[in-house]
Amino acid sequence: MPHPDEHVVIIGGSRGLGFEIAKASVAAGARVTITGRDHAATQARAKELGDSATGAGCELTDPDSIAALFAGIERVDHLVLAALDRDHNTIAEFRARDCATTMMMKTVGYATAVAEAAPKLDPDGSVVLFSGLSMLRPVPGSTTISMANAAIIGLVNTLTVELAPVRVNAVTPGIVGGTEAVDQADPVRAEWYEAMRRRTPAKRLPSPDDIVAAVTLLQDCRGINGTNLLVDAGMHLA
Ligand SMILES: NC(=O)c1ccc[n+]([C@@H]2O[C@H](COP(=O)([O-])OP(=O)(O)OC[C@H]3O[C@@H](n4cnc5c(N)ncnc54)[C@H](OP(=O)(O)O)[C@@H]3O)[C@@H](O)[C@H]2O)c1
Repeated sequence: MPHPDEHVVIIGGSRGLGFEIAKASVAAGARVTITGRDHAATQARAKELGDSATGAGCELTDPDSIAALFAGIERVDHLVLAALDRDHNTIAEFRARDCATTMMMKTVGYATAVAEAAPKLDPDGSVVLFSGLSMLRPVPGSTTISMANAAIIGLVNTLTVELAPVRVNAVTPGIVGGTEAVDQADPVRAEWYEAMRRRTPAKRLPSPDDIVAAVTLLQDCRGINGTNLLVDAGMHLA
């Protein structure tokens, strides 16, 4: 849990799991900056979190946008990279440009955000990058996302060495019930997700609260560094 007065920056915090992490951080007394692609809309989202939250626009496919965001930030205690622009793609009907856009935001964009944040990161701070179980257990249409999620693990490995003493970890959610991406999935994916839930040992999907708890652990525990934490309710064994 971030300490009071620490500054938590959540790239992709305007919605979904990033917003849940923002809520928990504010509840712990931290200052929070959340980002989304639209500046005004993200500022409005931040208002929902109260006075200790700020919203800002940041487009991860645009290095200038990332640089502008961090130019206005003095200090970062915990950086969380949760953004995703989903590209449903397959090798059978491969759309290279769509794949490249998502790869740009989820790999190069994440690395650029870390590079811009690096001079401002507190030495006792942490970076958490979101991967996803599709790198190990592909779902229909996950060609791009499976690649991007796997790349995050390589990025974490190099960042752990390059950013020391700042700690760097990945969190790899399984299919998270209660998120828009899962609850509003198209029928093909919805059926797949339900089948995965039934095959999960306890027959339950991880929840957003489970993911928040995992990110909190990665931020708190100084003994965890360079790790990829699977939070999938055992789905990888199913
Ligand atoms: N949900 C799941 O079941 C699940 C499973 C495995 C892994 N994950 C991982 O968990 C993370 C969060 O997932 P989620 O379902 O909570 O996502 P989400 O609800 O779709 O939210 C995505 C966030 O990314 C931002 N974003 C999208 N495209 C962007 C871009 N080009 N540049 C900058 N920001 C951009 C969005 O901002 P806007 O407000 O502009 O849209 C939003 O804040 C992702 O990295 C995903 O890979 C999720």
